Amino acid sequence: MARLISHMDYFIICVTLALSIPCRVCGTATPFFIFGDSTVDPGNNNYINTIPEYQANYKPYGLNGFFEEPTGRFSDGRVIVDFIAEYAKLPVIPPPFLQPSAEFINGVNFASGGSGILPETNQGQVIDLQTQIKHFEEVQKSLTEKLGEAKANELFSEAVYFISIGSNDYLGGYLGNPKMQEYYAPEGYVGLVIGNLTQAIQVLYEKGGRKFGFLSLSPLGCLPALRALSPKANESVCFKEACALAQAHNSALKFILTSLEHILRGFKYCNSNFYDWLLDRINNPSKYGFKDGVNACCGNGPYGGIFTCGGTKKVTDYQLCDNADDFVWWDSFHPTEKIHEQFGQALWNGPPSSVGPYTLQHLFLSKEELTIADEVDDPDRQNFHY
Ligand SMILES: *[C@@H]1O[C@H](CO)[C@@H](O)[C@H](O)[C@H]1NC(C)=O
Ligand SMILES: *[C@@H]1O[C@H](CO)[C@@H](O)[C@H](O)[C@H]1NC(C)=O
Repeated sequence: MARLISHMDYFIICVTLALSIPCRVCGTATPFFIFGDSTVDPGNNNYINTIPEYQANYKPYGLNGFFEEPTGRFSDGRVIVDFIAEYAKLPVIPPPFLQPSAEFINGVNFASGGSGILPETNQGQVIDLQTQIKHFEEVQKSLTEKLGEAKANELFSEAVYFISIGSNDYLGGYLGNPKMQEYYAPEGYVGLVIGNLTQAIQVLYEKGGRKFGFLSLSPLGCLPALRALSPKANESVCFKEACALAQAHNSALKFILTSLEHILRGFKYCNSNFYDWLLDRINNPSKYGFKDGVNACCGNGPYGGIFTCGGTKKVTDYQLCDNADDFVWWDSFHPTEKIHEQFGQALWNGPPSSVGPYTLQHLFLSKEELTIADEVDDPDRQNFHY
């Protein structure tokens, strides 16, 4: 997939862009920096000391053969940022930060399966968001030494910063943690998580980041693992409390992003309504080319919700479906490549009901410096409906 772009391609892209989106520096790919959890981890956890639950570098992960070997992605193949790198025509998929001899010039992926926004979430077994940002600072230092300050500053302000994290703060960090539930009511806890996420965004902005993409939280209570866990849930009803936390998080995130847009000059973002988008596929799988929206392709027990995929954990027995493309869920916690691809497309140029105020396509391809006047009636800024 990651082919080098030829001169002819550049010519066509530039002509297309000249007609649609302003493009000042045609011919240089926009770097892509990724922060997050298992939704976007490309294999950083292969290099840390952790438990099999937070790794995916064994079969049947990567089953569809897009990559020769299981890479550590929590999917039957690619994850969302692999598709975005393809649509953005990056010459390579941004490598895991911890991969020895990784090249940083087109971006880097800092994500770590099991990680949270709060350092307490799965502490000691994952790379939390603050540490991921420290790793970014190391990359920034090294690229600044290599390119010089002026060029490096341009690179970091043109780059797209994608953040997909938070599920683990609510699952293991809160619902699975009676102590935390004793200390904090759900609203208070959401405030803590969002407060820390806001801080992380501000740090990246201070370091020069201007263009941000966000994957909001999915309906967490409909994950096969959570559906199996709740005595009140069944085939048609999800684990309510988990869904409520995800919704509270998503509305708080939407609110702070609107505020940051007013406070931080030049801050542009692409947010998404992954919650409703995925719930629609869970409830109406056949409308979108799936046969099953409830059960995991790989796992054990009710809904495949017992997290045994791969047989590396305590219970080694697991079932595997015949065709992962028929399923919304790959394992007890993670969607299939086909879901990743469909949502990657939505983030890239999707409908304003799911993605906005900017699409990722706009963030990757626009290189203009907006003046304040431009920002006020920027024709690419979509109305964000949800
Ligand atoms: C961030 O989370 C910590 C707990 O890890 C909490 O004490 C702190 O108040 C939070 N910060 C903000 C700004 O909410
Ligand atoms: C699922 O649970 C709901 C509410 O408890 C109930 O009304 C419904 O009949 C159940 N559905 C199935 C398929 O068991």
